[in-house]
Amino acid sequence: MCGIVGYSGCRTAYPLLMQGLHRLEYRGYDSAGVALMADAEEKIKVYKATGKVADLEAVAENQDCRGTVGIAHTRWATHGAPNTPNAHPHLSESGNLTLVHNGIIENYATLREQLRAKGYHFRSETDTEVLIQLIEYTEVSRGVSLQDAVRMALSKVIGAYAIIVMDRRAPGVLVAARKSSPMVIGLGENDSEFFIASDASPIAEYTRRMVYLNDEEMAVCVPGQPLSVVTLQNAEVAVDVQHVDLDLNMLEKGGYDHFMLKEIFDQPQCLEDCMRGRVLLNHKRVILSAVTEHRQALVNARRFLFVSCGTSWHAGLIGGQLIEHFCRVPAQVMYASEFRYSNPVVGPGDVVVAISQSGETADTLAAMQIARDAGATLLGVVNAVGSSIARLSDAGAYIHVGPEIGVASTKAFTGQVTVLTMMALAIAREKGSVSDCEYEQTIEELVRIPDKIQTILNQHDEIRRVAEHYKLASNVLYLGRGANYPVAMEGALKLKEISYIHAEGYPAAEMKHGPIALIDENMPVVFIATHQHIYEKTISNMQEVVARKGRILAIVTEGDTQVRQMAEHVIEVPETIDCLVPLLSVVPLQILAYYIAVGKGLDVDQPRNLAKSVTVE
Ligand code: F6R
Repeated sequence: MCGIVGYSGCRTAYPLLMQGLHRLEYRGYDSAGVALMADAEEKIKVYKATGKVADLEAVAENQDCRGTVGIAHTRWATHGAPNTPNAHPHLSESGNLTLVHNGIIENYATLREQLRAKGYHFRSETDTEVLIQLIEYTEVSRGVSLQDAVRMALSKVIGAYAIIVMDRRAPGVLVAARKSSPMVIGLGENDSEFFIASDASPIAEYTRRMVYLNDEEMAVCVPGQPLSVVTLQNAEVAVDVQHVDLDLNMLEKGGYDHFMLKEIFDQPQCLEDCMRGRVLLNHKRVILSAVTEHRQALVNARRFLFVSCGTSWHAGLIGGQLIEHFCRVPAQVMYASEFRYSNPVVGPGDVVVAISQSGETADTLAAMQIARDAGATLLGVVNAVGSSIARLSDAGAYIHVGPEIGVASTKAFTGQVTVLTMMALAIAREKGSVSDCEYEQTIEELVRIPDKIQTILNQHDEIRRVAEHYKLASNVLYLGRGANYPVAMEGALKLKEISYIHAEGYPAAEMKHGPIALIDENMPVVFIATHQHIYEKTISNMQEVVARKGRILAIVTEGDTQVRQMAEHVIEVPETIDCLVPLLSVVPLQILAYYIAVGKGLDVDQPRNLAKSVTVE
């Protein structure tokens, strides 16, 4: 989704801003722009392009890109088509002010009509242009400073925003503010320069000292002066500087053709990182600080309610199964977007588990806020450190798999499932709802998972060959039972996201209640038929497809012979215990989707229409 970078200091801003936009490309966008300022006597220079950041660089080439202050943006269209006039930054009527904005101004149409009546003109269809005009109108009509105009204008706005405003008349000054959309400010040595961005990745190479703005806070950055942060009511806020460690190597492709492939291959290491210090094999214990610190609420929970979206919702389905299996407490799993508008029955005694890679998903945040207001305990399972969901949680466990750049989530999913497994085990231990034998056996098996994933990764050439047979398919059905049912949905989601092939994940036994009508000799069916207690039942469902001449690609446990006789292609995964099967069975499906998309010549890391961080509802 949209990305923001801003800089003010002593360096030339343009190359730094472009490098920052490249770092933000993973979020998904359809146009880009930059505004630069050399000095107060000159106009602000704005360059924009539809398409990629490279297209913007082509537009700016041979143009005047001087200046040590600037703001830049990648836009993912919400209001108005992805074209150059709608790209950010937007200028105010006089050209004195310019703005970049992430989020949505919901009352923009009303505000635009009011401003039109005052003589303001609009060159784009965006809500963002309304905001910069509103700021200018407030400044002029009320005779207030820029900072006050920004505060006053934002208090009239309904919606979500992260913004940076730049003023031609005040070289070097950048004003940033946020509500429901992240914004971080990096501090240079002795406040000599400021780096502003919508996440830490574009600025981490310049500074590790970061200030995360909270909702309805505004920062004024003036090189040479300490950072000033106030609320929208103009109350001073103590500046909380955090040291953010971000491994820049993790942001590079490391020799792989795509981030997605790297992230698939990173999974053994990522899961080891995720378990480090938490799974103590010598002591046969799982220790999660969230569980230790919130023991009472978790042990006595009357229900666990998982809220999340997309891939994280699939992880939630597995989390629900794990909690019911180990803790014997009811678990409910809801799409965050449905939960928030469902007039939910939730309150004290409920534990609401919010799962999110980015930690910024608007629907998940809104669901959490409802649960918080109702008195539930909030647990966050998040990847992005310091993100909004992490900060709204009462307790949580980071998945620690490193930044995920590929738009299609892979290592975050297995990280989420690993954390949810540890969480269910740790709570069950405290409750006494799991036997010592099962608890210890699960821990022993969990630490073997990274090596077992490596065994699957070693077969990637074979999976690539299998993928060749499916790249021309226009529909694919994914079927699984038990823990493999969410995996079927995740496999289907991966395929449709990056290969644009229509795919559905279904519980295998449900097929006969409808989807079986689709089966014929042209319909590929991916069966996840690993050894589990419902293996034989899955085999029966497979027979139903064979009888209708469907083409079967099966994910099976090593050494399986039964399925081999029925399937056109078979991919093996190592044996494991039932509850850990998803951590293995999902991996070949990730690789399969990847190679099918590559085989079709598609942009795997940035599929069309998708955004990495969905900060609008
Ligand atoms: C799919 C994918 C999305 C996200 C969803 C939630 O590959 O990445 O479905 O899982 O948008 O995002 P997070 O986990 O950031 O809340």
